[in-house]
Amino acid sequence: MRTPRVLVTLWPLLALLALTACHGGVHGTPGRSGLRDPYFPRLGNGGYDVAHYDLGLAYDPDTHRLTGTADITAKAGKDLSAFNFDLTGMTVKSVTVDGEEAVASRAGHELTIRPHDELRRGDTFRTVVRYSGEPVTITDPDGSKEGWLRTADGALGLGEPTGSMAWFPGNHHPSDKATYDITVTVPKGVQAVSNGELTRTSTATDGSGATTYAWHVPQPMASYLATVAIGEFRTSSSTTPSGLPVHTAVDPREEAASAKVLARLPEVVAWETKRFGPYPFSSTGAIVDREGDAGYALETQNRPVFPGAPGLGLLVHELAHQWYGDSVTPRSWRDMWLNEGFATYAEWLWDEDHDGDTAQDTFDTLRATSASDGIWSFPPAEPPSAAHISDAPVYERGAMVLHRVRQIIGDPDFFSLLKSWPREHKYGNADTDDFTAYVEKRNPGKEEALAGVWKDWLYGNGKPK
Ligand code: TRP
Ligand code: ZN
Repeated sequence: MRTPRVLVTLWPLLALLALTACHGGVHGTPGRSGLRDPYFPRLGNGGYDVAHYDLGLAYDPDTHRLTGTADITAKAGKDLSAFNFDLTGMTVKSVTVDGEEAVASRAGHELTIRPHDELRRGDTFRTVVRYSGEPVTITDPDGSKEGWLRTADGALGLGEPTGSMAWFPGNHHPSDKATYDITVTVPKGVQAVSNGELTRTSTATDGSGATTYAWHVPQPMASYLATVAIGEFRTSSSTTPSGLPVHTAVDPREEAASAKVLARLPEVVAWETKRFGPYPFSSTGAIVDREGDAGYALETQNRPVFPGAPGLGLLVHELAHQWYGDSVTPRSWRDMWLNEGFATYAEWLWDEDHDGDTAQDTFDTLRATSASDGIWSFPPAEPPSAAHISDAPVYERGAMVLHRVRQIIGDPDFFSLLKSWPREHKYGNADTDDFTAYVEKRNPGKEEALAGVWKDWLYGNGKPK
């Protein structure tokens, strides 16, 4: 107020505002510190939607130290007085929101940010977090390792289901997908491979030989699918006959063992394109890194990570996830069977189309297992806890659900479903209800038979009769 006189005149209005409004006159409240995922309730955050992550990382394998700047563009879904990112370990040096210093506090994996000016619903805002430290390895409820894994010559960042919070702050729930720029600076002699396409490589002018690799991910990606592999790699770039760029990076110790299977990658992508529809992303490939602690493969976007030379079936599986999981992504971790059931079914179908067992043979073999077999221990759509989201019922019995659908709707409609489902939800999220409703809607007259599949195979306890 410029003069006391105006103040006097406006006094009743100001008093009212003081009672009802906060700083800046916005009725902001804090965003939720979790999205109530059925298995990981504290994962993700409410009140905003990330559009883009611009990550600038530097890592030194000798000191294990990561220095990062995360420039995150998001849109406020409500008036916000504060909001959270998920970040575990690391030390936060500073946080700004739209260029102004913000107050940051940490508790567990929650980084709470109180911007200088409250945010209004619909605002697009940029948060810059500067952080550093030795990123941690996370042990999941099922005992597997993710997050930041050290390797003999570098490190590997892996994020399913929660690990990406070990190397960058963000909204680490699969329901908030965003585009990415991931720029990594590493010392002389090592390389940095990530998702998307390599847009720039530059060497430091200080004579150190440090190199910066800039990777751009133009299609939306769930944070659990982000990766960075640092180390010595044999890289190769080519294009498939249909013009899709292929980038592979292989640990030299795995090169001999990987050569033959990776040579078939274009053929696998071409077959999957025929079966599942257009490849959803702007490039494909693979990362083969000797990673003992993980010991599993992951369908990281554009190029899956393998802990050693993969077999052909595993390559088929991880690349099938580019459609089922990476393009159409589970809405919550309960919908995991939509990832793994389809990726497993892709393996069955590959065999069927390549003179191996038919999917019916594979189904029959699994069907013949005893009722005490682990595959029947819980229904695919309802794992008993977070420790079981990657167990056999999610994979094999999940694929059996799809095969039961095939038996009911017949091959023409089933093969058209394999294409239309990822097309319908391209770059989005879907849950089990979306899937069952979609299948029923496309197959009028079969609702009752399908309802039986959902009841016995998807949600039923024990081995179906
Ligand atoms: N999604 C991986 C695959 O099947 C397996 C996997 C790795 C996984 N880490 C996980 C599954 C964590 C569930 C949770 O290709
Ligand atoms: Zn899988």
